[in-house]
Amino acid sequence: MPMMKESLSQRLNQDLAKIQPNEIRAFDAKVSTMPDMIKLTLGEPDFDVPEVAKAAAIASITANDSHYAPGNGSVALREAATDFLADRYGLTYDADTEVVITIGATEAIYATLTAVLNPGDKVLIPTPTFPLYDAITLMNGGEPVYLDTSATRFVLTPAQLRAAIAEHGDAIKAIVLNYPSNPTGVTYSAAELKALATVLAETDIIVIADEIYSELVYETTHVSIATYLPGQTLLLNGVSKSHAMTGYRIGFIAGPAGLMRTVGMTHQLVVTSPSNPAMAAATVALGTQAGHEATLAMKAQYAARRDFVVEQMRTAGFEVETPGGAFYVFAKIPATHNQDDREFALALAENAHVAVIPGSAFGQGGAGYLRLSYATSLATLTEAMQRIKTYMQTAMTVGE
Ligand SMILES: Cc1ncc(COP(=O)(O)O)c(C=O)c1O
Repeated sequence: MPMMKESLSQRLNQDLAKIQPNEIRAFDAKVSTMPDMIKLTLGEPDFDVPEVAKAAAIASITANDSHYAPGNGSVALREAATDFLADRYGLTYDADTEVVITIGATEAIYATLTAVLNPGDKVLIPTPTFPLYDAITLMNGGEPVYLDTSATRFVLTPAQLRAAIAEHGDAIKAIVLNYPSNPTGVTYSAAELKALATVLAETDIIVIADEIYSELVYETTHVSIATYLPGQTLLLNGVSKSHAMTGYRIGFIAGPAGLMRTVGMTHQLVVTSPSNPAMAAATVALGTQAGHEATLAMKAQYAARRDFVVEQMRTAGFEVETPGGAFYVFAKIPATHNQDDREFALALAENAHVAVIPGSAFGQGGAGYLRLSYATSLATLTEAMQRIKTYMQTAMTVGE
């Protein structure tokens, strides 16, 4: 094994040193070594990939679909993506110039932030937040500006946005909006989006809208902020959550051609294009009735699980807003118990053998909360809820 020449450690990209290790993965790894653990930790759908999508991947391999695809992705998938956005959300994009197919939403976040940021630029990030946005901002020499939404039921308000713009001005290059949200499951209404859009329209802030959970919205209809700000929004989506295809690694970005030219550059410089069998599968997932029906069937099950978990967690003493989408419940630890969510989550794992993610892993406003992923079977959730309820009755309360 080669030992690195010691003096080289200071010669690496120093922006990367600012990035905290991913606490979600670290916590999951830690609890995974404990025996008899029920894990409600990761945002990983438990369903199988729709049969039509699997068949399309196999057919792609069999047909020797093995050559480089266009850098912005296969024509068929770009067209399926634009048809999907038109059909579901009433958005119009040109498949040639306004869409890029990416390696999951992860690469879409990377490609968009890298395309817009110069060192010193600020990015508004409502918190609690999925941790990738600030990591990639830091990696690009940018500066995350956190907007804690915990006082307003995890919804960014126009007043908060205005205050941030007044404070940071032209240094703000972009804002990230993620809804339905990981970790809170909270989504935005059309009126809330319109109000934010009114503020943003007066600025040159680029909106990076991570709408990867858009197909998992339960009572309401998902509205994209691109509806109100088409000229300054980069819309991110993909098949990871909607079609349980996390391992296929297909996402996409849609936006005005003037922005997408640069986004396409950052994408092509890193990945060239995603793999053909995965794109063939995603084309069918997004572009067929069978693909849509598969999503609807999963969504019905997620909704039933959500109702069950919310009700059970409330019975156990937690304060829980009913989440409007995604597959997470963000539960507030009762005041009677240890409010240090990291300690609480560890004690829950060690004593009740249920693993959840401490809310602090998602930044400001997450302290005192736990994130539970309900992307697991109702039978597993039933056992997990029983364990949590028993634990809450027996665990030491504050002052004891
Ligand atoms: C909000 C959010 N964005 C992006 C991603 C990454 O999605 P993908 O697996 O398509 O890269 C996730 C995954 O958990 C997520 O929760």
